[in-house]
Amino acid sequence: MEPIKFIHITDLHCNKKTKPETMATATRLINQQNPDVIVCTGDFVQKSRPAETESNHQIARDFINTLTCKTFYKIPGNHDCYDRERNNTLPIYKKYWQDEDFLVNMEGLFILGVNSSVINKRIQEVSRSAGIVDHESLSFIEESIKTADKNDFRVFCLHHHLIPMFNDTFNDDESGINLDIVWNSGTILRILRQNRFDLVLQGHKHDPELFVLDGTIFLIGGSLLKNLPESVENSFYSIQVDELITIKQHFLQSETEKVVHCGPNKRYLPL
Ligand SMILES: [Fe+2]
Repeated sequence: MEPIKFIHITDLHCNKKTKPETMATATRLINQQNPDVIVCTGDFVQKSRPAETESNHQIARDFINTLTCKTFYKIPGNHDCYDRERNNTLPIYKKYWQDEDFLVNMEGLFILGVNSSVINKRIQEVSRSAGIVDHESLSFIEESIKTADKNDFRVFCLHHHLIPMFNDTFNDDESGINLDIVWNSGTILRILRQNRFDLVLQGHKHDPELFVLDGTIFLIGGSLLKNLPESVENSFYSIQVDELITIKQHFLQSETEKVVHCGPNKRYLPL
């Protein structure tokens, strides 16, 4: 198998406050990597007043157009699905980005992405931020998996998390419900385990984290473009799949990188 390199970006949170210099650095550093695939796990825009939603998406679109990768795949985040007045903005997201779920099936690489920010009546009663993978996306996952080759490097993408962050001590919702985790995370974890996924890409909390659980690498991205506190850098990941899988985190402000994982690209024997 030829080595494959892909980039994981997430949580752009574009609006009129997004700094042009941050976008320019992101473009330069990502294009330097010369990736085969770029994946974005949502929150293209910052939730805002209804009148600003389209222009925020246009800022994000103009930025993505500066990336030279031929293949770009994406899913929405919670900020892409509702505005500040709790209107459903998914139709605007789809106008700019089309996909809610996606499948990449190329030689040696299988990537599935699903919308975990779907509108759900039960969730609306609690919060618009809570995640769920609905029946339509679950069917999409089950049908898509049938097309994977047994030797493919298997990647699953969603915006929300499947287990709480390791450094979470409290959640911030007064209901006491952790809104970062998809409600049916057990179902997703079972599917990932049964089908031996190698890597999970997630966004949402802007607090990068990497851990290996049950043979699968879980990678939570930081924010690529949001204006963060001075002590925190914007960042993205590059993932090189060869005989080893090498994951690097790239920092925008210091223009540095560090290897955060390097190990066999298949923890399990082929199915
Ligand atoms: Fe976010």
